[in-house]
Amino acid sequence: MLVTGPAGIGKTRLVEEALREGARPPTSPPAGASAAVQVGRGYSLPDHAAPALWPWQQALRALARRGGRPARISSAVDLLEGAGSCDAPGDAASAAAVRFAALAAVADAVLTAAAEPLVIVLEDLHWADTNTVELVRQVAGGIVDSHLLLIATMRAEAGDVMRELSRLDSVNAVPLRPLAAAAVRDYLTALDPAASTAARAEQVARRSGGLPLLLDAAASDAAAPEPVVVRDLVEALLAQLPEPARRVVQVAALLRSPMDTDVVGQVAEVDGSTAGLALDAACRAGLLTPATSWGGVEGLGFAFTHDPAG
Ligand SMILES: Nc1ncnc2c1ncn2[C@@H]1O[C@H](COP(=O)(O)OP(=O)(O)OP(=O)(O)O)[C@@H](O)[C@H]1O
Ligand SMILES: [Mg+2]
Repeated sequence: MLVTGPAGIGKTRLVEEALREGARPPTSPPAGASAAVQVGRGYSLPDHAAPALWPWQQALRALARRGGRPARISSAVDLLEGAGSCDAPGDAASAAAVRFAALAAVADAVLTAAAEPLVIVLEDLHWADTNTVELVRQVAGGIVDSHLLLIATMRAEAGDVMRELSRLDSVNAVPLRPLAAAAVRDYLTALDPAASTAARAEQVARRSGGLPLLLDAAASDAAAPEPVVVRDLVEALLAQLPEPARRVVQVAALLRSPMDTDVVGQVAEVDGSTAGLALDAACRAGLLTPATSWGGVEGLGFAFTHDPAG
């Protein structure tokens, strides 16, 4: 299962809720059902210092610590460590073949360990190294014959990898979309039924762009003049960006959306690749989304997640 969507849309929360639901003992367990299903989680980091296959290492080590099938999981961990450090001699093609075979052996060990139910969660695959993604692909190839549920979360910015994984037969893609006003109203009702009206839900949905991350901020400041709330929300997102990304995004806000990378770069007085990197960073921060079509050309341009004019 591949859960996708921008920063703050609720990917991690959805996984947590699903795991919590799954951890509840069934009211009438099937005959012969064993104890709770083991869950191993791993996280990709934006930091390039993380070792190869880091999310898989975390997830499999967590499973090995929890027991159940320690021997089978331990052999997967050993193979994984070998694959991560395998430095094959020779040309690039044979090195790739050795790496591929090493990952295939890990995939095989993971699937063997999943002769009984097993859940592996890999978070933030958009930051993952190529070997981590390759191992996801290989495990997904054999998953239908196992009792493994592999859940990965990923921001849409890693478009190519996301599309490639989504196309695999065994992958169930779950793209998350902004909350509609009706869902925002349900949320507000749960907080305070007396203060939840359709008009307020519309207002909070507009201010937050339906992004769960911003719901509380948008709802708690509902009495403030709208531009103040929008400014606070956008400033919080901008603060996550390094310079010159902040300046590029400020220029982009003036040009309105959708926008072209080259035009933004020229106005912000940076070269095209710096502007492109800045706009990518803004996508990761949840400020922008890549526009699917700009001037009829796929993949060019960006649009604001939250219209800067409110
Ligand atoms: N359906 C929801 N209702 C209410 N709050 C939600 C909902 N979904 C997510 N949230 C809250 O919104 C915040 C952001 O959610 P979450 O961390 O799951 O986003 P994410 O998509 O994993 O973001 P990132 O890509 O940065 O990891 C969290 O505080 C979470 O509890
Ligand atoms: Mg998350």
